[in-house]
Amino acid sequence: MTPVIFSSTSRLWLLRTPNTSYALRLDADDTPRHLHWGPPLTLAQAEQLSAGQPLRVSSFEGPGVGGAELPTDGGASYGVPSLQVRFADGTQAVEWQLMDDRIEGGELEIRLRDRHYPFECVLHYRVYADSDVIERWVTLRHTGTDAPIALLRTDSGCWHLPSRPDYRLTHVAGGWGHEFQLRRAPVPVAETVLTSRRGTTSHHANPWVMVDAGDATEDGGEVWSAALAWSGSWRVTVARDALGHVGWTGGFGHDGISWRLRPSEEWRTPVLAGLYSPGGFGATSRQWHEYARRHVLPRPEEVRPIVYNSWEATGFDVNEDNQKRLAGMAAALGVEMFVVDDGWFGARSSDHAGLGDWTVNPRRFPNGLGPLIAEVHRLGMRFGIWVEPEMVNPDSDLYREHPDWVLHMANRRRTTLRNQLVLNFARPDVAEWAHKWLDRLLTDYQIDFLKWDMNRAFSEAGWPDRGDDAVWLWVDHVRNVYATMDRLRADHPNLRIESCSGGGGRADFGILARTDEVWTSDNTDALDRIAIQYGYSHLYPAQTMAAWVTDTPNWLTERSVSLRFRFLVAMAGVLGIGGNLTHWTPEELRLAADMVTLYKEIRPVVQHGAQYRLAPPDAALTGVQYLAGDRSVVFVWRRTVPFEHPAVPLRLRGLDPAGAYRDEETGAVHLGAVLMAQGVLPELSEDHSGVVIRLSRV
Ligand code: DGJ
Repeated sequence: MTPVIFSSTSRLWLLRTPNTSYALRLDADDTPRHLHWGPPLTLAQAEQLSAGQPLRVSSFEGPGVGGAELPTDGGASYGVPSLQVRFADGTQAVEWQLMDDRIEGGELEIRLRDRHYPFECVLHYRVYADSDVIERWVTLRHTGTDAPIALLRTDSGCWHLPSRPDYRLTHVAGGWGHEFQLRRAPVPVAETVLTSRRGTTSHHANPWVMVDAGDATEDGGEVWSAALAWSGSWRVTVARDALGHVGWTGGFGHDGISWRLRPSEEWRTPVLAGLYSPGGFGATSRQWHEYARRHVLPRPEEVRPIVYNSWEATGFDVNEDNQKRLAGMAAALGVEMFVVDDGWFGARSSDHAGLGDWTVNPRRFPNGLGPLIAEVHRLGMRFGIWVEPEMVNPDSDLYREHPDWVLHMANRRRTTLRNQLVLNFARPDVAEWAHKWLDRLLTDYQIDFLKWDMNRAFSEAGWPDRGDDAVWLWVDHVRNVYATMDRLRADHPNLRIESCSGGGGRADFGILARTDEVWTSDNTDALDRIAIQYGYSHLYPAQTMAAWVTDTPNWLTERSVSLRFRFLVAMAGVLGIGGNLTHWTPEELRLAADMVTLYKEIRPVVQHGAQYRLAPPDAALTGVQYLAGDRSVVFVWRRTVPFEHPAVPLRLRGLDPAGAYRDEETGAVHLGAVLMAQGVLPELSEDHSGVVIRLSRV
């Protein structure tokens, strides 16, 4: 199948993915306009698509025939512009002229230039033979020699939906400790803005949207979705007008931030990828998971190791002795990677001081990290360590030496959050300094894993030396974080990185292209985690979702649930342990060792299988199923079942209805058709209990 076709007679491009098509055409004034995004079409069929009915003529409406692929200011267009520029003479409208197009394999570039001003724009599209995800981004170029061009908004693309009787928006919202809470509501006749102005992806929203016609379910129905590969400020605007048109535009940046493009400079936006699926929310998520594996994650085939992290056990009080003791206990449970968290460096005995001084604290580790790392390796585990390269405590040698290295504005306070300031990573000297000490750390010690944390949002995001160009830091900070990670990974090929930002504040396809997993949330309460994991799973695969078993009562929610239940929830992602093992009873340690053994046995299915959400996270009985080849692993969790309200069985998905499946524990054989029609209803007599069912096809 040719992935991209151009018809010169109808000035139409057709992009083809394995199961979908996307069509656009060039209108009479050379504006690329949207035609189709949905089921597959041939070129002949696409040529028959009408561009929509022209509106009844009114002096209050534009022509309204087909949305622009990249709406700009100019002419009679009143929707949300994806691209907004201002030329030096004040003109703030764009008029395109096609230069040419380039088709190479699955890539299409449509090259446009402004009819008058020295300004070029390339619309990029990329399709793959193994995914229905379509990637889009834009490059802009100043081709003149004079004044800069102001870039007021530079989204990566605008996506238009076909006419349907109604529309519904699905997204996640939340905050620290309650990330990824799924929301689903009708799309209002308005502009709905999902955004982060924090300089980072944020806990409060995540850069993806799903829109359906109000009739999609987990198992069926058309869903259109998009995800932005960017870890800084971002904005996606979903617009629905009173005439029924729905679409969204999205990209990096946020309101009030604009850039100046100088002669011969080029501006490239991050990828905003889109996916059409007729298979409901479940299939949509599974397709995003596959896309992540095939085109985003650096090491998708890896079986993720079981981590022990000392943060909840020892806090800032890490030292060689207590870490060795925990390491010994973790190894005895079958843990594969021991991670020392915050507190190993500088004067970092609380969050008030030391951040930025990345030398091993000699009082805590008198002989450096070497003896601990040697012990961890002797115990058969790999070694990982916590870093927070983008931050500094004002009470640190680094800040005393370089007070100008932080984000700041002249004549303004420097707002601290968690007693720290943000280093201006856009500064080449800061990025170079960070790379140098990280590279040294990885070279001096055998470190296999970095937990890269970022514990606050930007404030006073200025760079006084740079005047008007200071705003570049909003993107250059992120680009330099990416470049630092990329360089470290290239130079230390076995390195794994976990993306952490006070939990799940930096989870997106931009960071996942150079990290292996995300620390999903600082909230490790198993009941709360069910909802967090449910929302997370809408876009990101389980193999990127780090989940620890910690102590009770939970430090955040003060709730106590059984150790077994805590394991059963964490095992639905990348299992880790974060409790203080020195306080666990012998029975708890035995149970933990058994659960670790069980997880090792099922993790290929959990981490690499197809994921099916079996019920909403707040249902009395909820759960998730993973399916890989002939094996399926089903987690069932009971929340609270009120008297005389029997729980609804969980219907399994994706099995062969004609097949038979053996329960690996009981030996009982169940028919695929029955498991899917009637479901499973394990006997769980207590609230906050669970079970894992392992099935293999007979
Ligand atoms: C926030 C992280 O989410 C925690 O897991 C821990 O690493 C702390 N930072 C350390 O300061």
